[in-house]
Amino acid sequence: MVSIAVCPGSFDPITYGHLDIIKRGASVFETLYVCVLNNSTKKPLFTVEERIDLIERVTKDIPNVKVEAFDGLLIDYARKKHAKVILRGLRAVSDFEYEMQITSMNRKLGEEIETFFMMTNNQYSFLSSSIVKEAAKYHGNFSGLVPREVEDALNEKFRGEPNDNN
Ligand code: PNS
Repeated sequence: MVSIAVCPGSFDPITYGHLDIIKRGASVFETLYVCVLNNSTKKPLFTVEERIDLIERVTKDIPNVKVEAFDGLLIDYARKKHAKVILRGLRAVSDFEYEMQITSMNRKLGEEIETFFMMTNNQYSFLSSSIVKEAAKYHGNFSGLVPREVEDALNEKFRGEPNDNN
């Protein structure tokens, strides 16, 4: 059986926590589509093209990872890709309720597609794109939490923004 999975998210921007799940997912599934939500109600810092570009750059050495945008329902996208699995990372207990909600809705919309969870590596349990963006915005030190390409992109976004303490 050809095993295809989709790994959806906002990825605004990709962190080492996401990358950990993507690398491990790519070692389990034959093809892993990392798909970036394009119609989020959240107001992203990076455009969908920028987010895709960053993910492509940091996953360029993983040949079975494909990066795309998706609109609308994830289940429809997964069906189009012939995916049998939705892959999500779980960090701490705090993720659980949100993930339960998404999973039960996806099961209602398409019960033929299973959601698999991978526990994020402990060192990334409390890492999120939002927390990194906040540190970057106020010029705090967030090195080691995102790949160098992402660090540069964040610094560029916030270049010239005043530090709140000034
Ligand atoms: O990284 P995020 O923001 O936690 O990812 C959320 C995402 C993109 C997985 C979720 O919002 C999603 O799948 N949205 C697409 C719309 C959809 O299918 N909704 C029904 C299930 S919640």
